[in-house]
Amino acid sequence: MTEKIKICDRTFEIMIPASQIDSAVTAVAERMNRDYTDDDRVILLGVLNGSFMFLSDLVRRLNFRVEICFVKLSSYEGVASTGVVKDLIGFNCPIEGRNVVIVEDIVDTGNSIHHMLNSLNNRGAKSIKVCTLFFKPELYVGSAEIHYAAMNIGNDFIVGYGLDYNEFGRELPDIYVTRDE
Ligand code: IMP
Ligand code: MG
Repeated sequence: MTEKIKICDRTFEIMIPASQIDSAVTAVAERMNRDYTDDDRVILLGVLNGSFMFLSDLVRRLNFRVEICFVKLSSYEGVASTGVVKDLIGFNCPIEGRNVVIVEDIVDTGNSIHHMLNSLNNRGAKSIKVCTLFFKPELYVGSAEIHYAAMNIGNDFIVGYGLDYNEFGRELPDIYVTRDE
């Protein structure tokens, strides 16, 4: 029987077990290991809160040196994007001449990534790429390339492994999906 859990008013069932997330993180780290070396002076720019678990597992599998910094954005209320991206903590790391990789938990409409790329523009980064644990290609309306997507999913609302429903569920090691309307 599928394990079901209740978070606030919704029922969630397991969709992706931790072992499968682990393999996807390893695979995406291997792709990055082929693309970068120590000489590339990479900055990983994690987007809080959702990316904290993914980023911490990812960095331990990278075999090139990185610097890590974070920004904090908010665009979701409940299970839907508001379309308005708020900067809760801005970024203050010098990126001139650096290879930046934005690390997201999930790219959905692409509004957050678009917002991030706008704020990074004209700051003289050598390159800017996007790495995300989950990508929802059916909902993506952006034009920016998503270079490293660990896993593609459909039009589902998921929680766990950093992702939340109204701030709950981030600590779960597996990914759960809600089928409630
Ligand atoms: P976007 O701006 O529409 O691409 O949405 C990106 C942000 O919305 C992500 O970084 C998450 O914080 C949140 N988000 C999008 N989809 C989900 C989901 O299925 N579960 C939890 N959070 C999500
Ligand atoms: Mg997020």
